[in-house]
Amino acid sequence: MSARYAVIGHPVAHSKSPWIHAQFARATGQDMVYEAIEAPLDAFARTVDAFRTGDGRGANVTLPFKAQAFAYCRGASERAVAARAVNTLVLDRGEPWGDNTDGVGLVRDLEVNLAFPLSGRRVLVLGAGGAAQGVLQALQAAGVARLVVVNRTVERADALAARFPGVEACGYPGLAGRAFDVVVNATSAGLTGELPPFPTGAIGTLFAPGALAYDMVYGRETPFLAFARDAGVRTVDGSGMLVEQAAESFFVWRGVRPDTRAVLAALRPR
Ligand code: ATR
Repeated sequence: MSARYAVIGHPVAHSKSPWIHAQFARATGQDMVYEAIEAPLDAFARTVDAFRTGDGRGANVTLPFKAQAFAYCRGASERAVAARAVNTLVLDRGEPWGDNTDGVGLVRDLEVNLAFPLSGRRVLVLGAGGAAQGVLQALQAAGVARLVVVNRTVERADALAARFPGVEACGYPGLAGRAFDVVVNATSAGLTGELPPFPTGAIGTLFAPGALAYDMVYGRETPFLAFARDAGVRTVDGSGMLVEQAAESFFVWRGVRPDTRAVLAALRPR
């Protein structure tokens, strides 16, 4: 019987993960199936329990369950502990174990796919929610010179920065006159068609020469990317992060690292 994997979320119907993992499995010759499972909002743990009983070997976890997945696990990787969130469940090695591949997915997309080394760069992360906390440790580990988290609700940015020594927190007015080499949008603003409240005039100063504007959202042009493009800045959506976090999960489960280039070429518009 093929080894069984899944992505668990709510909603999950439009997830590209089943397609991505099917490509990886075919390319690496792994005998596995990967399905999408929508867990009721109040029944994440029950849904994973049922998946395990049904011989589920591993699962990706997406919104809004990554914190619940962390709580579900009896053990977790250091990077999942840092993020307090799990996007990769390992269910076939005794007690449920969790990992988080989001941060490494973002860093690998930036450094390998986009050939944008992070060492010494000034990096700004927009947002202080789940998406932001999942990537801070990996950005720091990549050797960035400065890592700033900006949030509408400044207290949330402060609380996040307190967990990651060296990370600086501020509110949007605090961005006035500052310049960054990479600006990563980890807010959910793009999903509601909103632009984060950049201070007036920031469009002229926020992006250093040669800067990159990255939106973790994929498959659509968000107001943030439009804002950056208007400033003449190179823009990238989150397709590469999606593919790279999937590849890392695949490696955690199967011990084989799939080549991501063909899959990414199909997803990321050039
Ligand atoms: P996620 O897990 O996707 O990060 P979340 O924990 O609800 O979701 O966090 C959403 C993030 O997007 C928060 O940082 C939120 O800012 P607040 O904490 O101030 O609410 C941010 N966000 C959402 N809409 C935004 C907008 N229009 N402008 C700026 N930030 C926005």
